[in-house]
Amino acid sequence: MARILMIVGSMRKDSFNRRMAQEIADILGERAEVSALDYAALPYMNQDIEFPAPAEVAQARAAVQAADGIWICTPEYNFSIPGVLKNLLDWLSRPLKPNDWDGGSVMQGKRVTVSSAAGKSAGRGVLASLAKLLEGMQMQLIGGPGVGISVNPEAFAGGALRFTPEQTEALRTQAEAFLAALEG
Ligand SMILES: Cc1cc2nc3c(=O)[nH]c(=O)nc-3n(C[C@H](O)[C@H](O)[C@H](O)COP(=O)(O)O)c2cc1C
Repeated sequence: MARILMIVGSMRKDSFNRRMAQEIADILGERAEVSALDYAALPYMNQDIEFPAPAEVAQARAAVQAADGIWICTPEYNFSIPGVLKNLLDWLSRPLKPNDWDGGSVMQGKRVTVSSAAGKSAGRGVLASLAKLLEGMQMQLIGGPGVGISVNPEAFAGGALRFTPEQTEALRTQAEAFLAALEG
């Protein structure tokens, strides 16, 4: 069974993107083993502390290595990638030993797909920024830039988060494409 690691680009307790990751896990159901990366304690990337890797970085790398694929669910911050997620990806983009450029990173060659629960832009900016970054990290981006969702305005005002049938269908289609890529 495909092992999928969810990475949520928000630390917010009631994060819409965490809720979307749960929705995706429900869609995947029994067809995948889904886990979520907890990286709240990750330090800021700083080359002074890069080797040996801090424990939180080693844990994040081990979780990535144990997964067949990575599914990123992220908000859009100022039309781009939230800082916490960019910090994580910067850590994961690095070689495991100093100057070991041939050894690669844990992300290199790994299959990845991206969804964004955002405002009116439906995450267009963050999806485009991430596509460029993940391809730069030599990951295999499945499903193009991914699926962007405009969160229902009531949810922003404290009401319930609701996915429209079209949004759920888009996530379902993305899940099928990702499973096919992981199983193929
Ligand atoms: C610093 C900051 C910048 C934001 N910029 C954008 C943006 O460019 N586009 C957008 O759709 N929403 C933007 N938002 C609103 C987020 O989409 C909204 O806060 C969303 O709930 C965050 O996702 P989460 O619920 O998973 O934390 C921004 C929010 C913050 C805090």
